[in-house]
Amino acid sequence: MPHVIEWSRAYAHRLTPDSALTFKARSGPIARRLAQECAAGELPFLTMGFRPKLEREMAPLVPRIKGYRHMLVLGIGGSALGARAMQRAFAPGQDGPGHSGPWLWIADNVCAERFEALLGNLVPAQTLVVCISKSGGTIETVVQYFLVRDWLKDALGASWQEHMIVVTDEQKGYLRQEANRHGLTALEVPDFLGGRYSALSAVGLLPAAFLGIDWRALLDGAASVARPLAQNPDSVGDSPSFALACWAKALEDAGYNQMIFFCYIPQWAAYGDWFAQLWAESLGKEGQGSQPVPATGVTDQHSINQMFLSGPRNKACLFLTSREQVQGRNFGMDVPDQWAWLRAKPFGSLLEAEALGTRMALCKSGVPLLHVEMSERTPRAAGALMLMLEAATLFTGWLMDINPLDQPAVELGKRLANARLGATGYAQENADMEEFLSAPRVEQTF
Ligand code: PA5
Repeated sequence: MPHVIEWSRAYAHRLTPDSALTFKARSGPIARRLAQECAAGELPFLTMGFRPKLEREMAPLVPRIKGYRHMLVLGIGGSALGARAMQRAFAPGQDGPGHSGPWLWIADNVCAERFEALLGNLVPAQTLVVCISKSGGTIETVVQYFLVRDWLKDALGASWQEHMIVVTDEQKGYLRQEANRHGLTALEVPDFLGGRYSALSAVGLLPAAFLGIDWRALLDGAASVARPLAQNPDSVGDSPSFALACWAKALEDAGYNQMIFFCYIPQWAAYGDWFAQLWAESLGKEGQGSQPVPATGVTDQHSINQMFLSGPRNKACLFLTSREQVQGRNFGMDVPDQWAWLRAKPFGSLLEAEALGTRMALCKSGVPLLHVEMSERTPRAAGALMLMLEAATLFTGWLMDINPLDQPAVELGKRLANARLGATGYAQENADMEEFLSAPRVEQTF
């Protein structure tokens, strides 16, 4: 059964169907660019040429990694969010009672307290550390690598290397040097596969495989969407990704500067954070872009939904549901009269009813909405969804005439933090910081 994007409510309020036509008319140049960049190897998330090597390297590694009780991932941004989404979607046991392993821990923040709790409680002999960084130089990841390497060495001596795998660029970067220096097992993040487009490479799939998730099915799902685009770029004009991109660009031009990702597949809620990073880092450029707003159904009906429905009319919505949901146990026939209409119905019927109710309410409030209906919620389906959204993000960026594959604005904060820590070569940043800190403070206590 195919997954479906339902378009009947896409154009609402001040967004007219005509508004996307100008962008749809650009499918010719977009197809040519797609063909060119695929041929040049610049879009590996679509061409997936890395797959055979990845499969060759992962297959023998999986039995080894499954020998551990714990996997500790060090990584941030695109090097962490895909793995977390897959963990929550397909191996949710760790968050529930009675779980007896395996356990995946993702250290994607600078939080000394949490880090101490992890290193204080994990047993090095039972733990595999996976250090993930495309650049191999991201400070948050590298500093955790230093500390974890000491932790492993202290406990395990010379055999510490067996407990560490690196996922990084094939040639460049500090972590690649470390892998070479210490003979660490290393998997490659292919050239041109930027962090937020890399979840379906070793970056996300190694943690997924550790959890017993069908990582090949994730790749198969992605390939089912990627293949037609990569092999026949001229078909881009008919692709759902391109249609979504035209809609997104039309929205932005009409002043809709927030994109809700309303996930009514509760197990997939963490895909909201994955999508938010993909959309924001790719498209927030040159004063353009729409702010992604991840929301979880039904939880956020009792939270931020009020703002969606009755706040500023600047929001559009990607509304995600699945036709495959466990219904759970039924309500008894002794449910009190005031709730009699629930009798004999399954618990799961609430999710379907509330999803419909909220979707209708959003539409009635004039929120332009695309309903993405997944026919199932398997790893294969998730792979297809991820790829469809990645391609849509890429095409939206191209329609905006910005580069959706870089993220230059976030560099300034990193340089300033390095300067603050005493790194050399940051004279300008040091001077700017001095000026910033010299401004008289304006304080109000509470
Ligand atoms: O999407 C991106 O490119 C970024 O968010 C990166 O994933 C993040 O900055 C981490 O980079 P790296 O994988 O090089 O450590």
